[in-house]
Amino acid sequence: MEIHGINSIKGEIKIPGDKSISHRSLIISSIADGNAVIENFLFCEDCLKTLNILERLRVKIEKINGNLIVHGSGIENYCEPDDILYTGNSGTTIRIMSGVLSASNFMSVLSGDSSINNRPMGRIIKPLREMGAKIYGRENNSKAPIVIFGNPFLEGKKIKLEVPSAQVKSAILLAGLYARGVTEIISPGISRDHTERMLEYFGANIIYKGEHVRLIPDRKLVARNIFIPGDISSAAYFIVATLILKNSHTLIKDAGINPTRSYIIELLKKMGGKIIIKNERIVNNEPMADIETFSSRLKSIEVKKEEIPLIIDEIPALCVAAAVAEGTTIIKGAEELRYKESDRIESIVSQFKKLNVDIDEKHNDIIINGNPEFRAGEGEVKSFGDHRIAMSLSILSLLSGGNVTILDSDCINVSFPGFEYSIKKLIYDKNIR
Ligand code: S3P
Repeated sequence: MEIHGINSIKGEIKIPGDKSISHRSLIISSIADGNAVIENFLFCEDCLKTLNILERLRVKIEKINGNLIVHGSGIENYCEPDDILYTGNSGTTIRIMSGVLSASNFMSVLSGDSSINNRPMGRIIKPLREMGAKIYGRENNSKAPIVIFGNPFLEGKKIKLEVPSAQVKSAILLAGLYARGVTEIISPGISRDHTERMLEYFGANIIYKGEHVRLIPDRKLVARNIFIPGDISSAAYFIVATLILKNSHTLIKDAGINPTRSYIIELLKKMGGKIIIKNERIVNNEPMADIETFSSRLKSIEVKKEEIPLIIDEIPALCVAAAVAEGTTIIKGAEELRYKESDRIESIVSQFKKLNVDIDEKHNDIIINGNPEFRAGEGEVKSFGDHRIAMSLSILSLLSGGNVTILDSDCINVSFPGFEYSIKKLIYDKNIR
């Protein structure tokens, strides 16, 4: 992708559906009873991996006019797949489906691309084994491919997570739906709660607050229709772009603002960002709103280790804001970034440097000396096949005095098909209704 520096952006956009909620909408409706209509589903590469896997398990999913209808009939009607289940680049697919398949009555093998097969899987294998799952992985049960001999007789357990991960929590909860007894999860920090909200919406007996979830598997899940709000992680690139470009003003319609995901807005406001949340409402148990943003003069902040899980996917975008903020921004204890689609600390630091950002890493901290007059350099940068690195580099490049080429930018389709169009729309379409 080629990006030319520009002066301003203005206009109104809709952001594609939330990736985390899209995965869950398919998986949870496939194990519920009845038909669920899913609107605004995110047709990105990651979510299509979940869809293809469910089809291989013989779940009936209709695609009509860009919407989906899932004909759920419970895990009992999943069929043993006749080949490996390929999850591509999608951590959410492999981790959450491992939880569901642990409770099946057949064998399955989950594998992914080279990034997935090198990311940590011990974090799901270990707790699922505690529940009685017969689940195995490469390198002493720490990596994919994952082999599962389904066990319909799992036991509910009290599990203390080692990392605050929503994927791990979701895998355990979905396995817990089929276990004997209560499943309880205690996390070392807050992570996104979309699974809990959707299970509650589908009628499950679940109580969740902060770091604590308790699921009693005594009720059937009943399918309901779902409208997927826009993905706040995708919206973050445009919020940051608006803040850092002069004379800019944008309105993002229908974005999810779940409190376990919207902390990025609080941090950007703390940096001096003028951001207004409008038209707040609840759709299928998820809060949604419109987000209006204006160009702002930003100042640096310090992000603590405990805050990292709340902005885990937005840190690349936050680093762009920090590059133009006055003062030194420190993002502390961001180790989890090393286990994402790429080692995001290394990817951000190495590529942002190429575009003249004064940035460094120290252990697991990212340190950025911002400059309100910052102009990005020119030339080539690479994404490491990581969608969020490619998108943050694109936004940073809008501040270039010339042209920047982002190599291997196709990976953006992993979460945000239409990203380039959305940038162009805001460059050329200067209307806000
Ligand atoms: C996700 C959880 C997060 C996040 C990922 C999506 C989810 O990962 O980074 O992009 O949908 O549950 P972890 O659970 O590893 O923190």
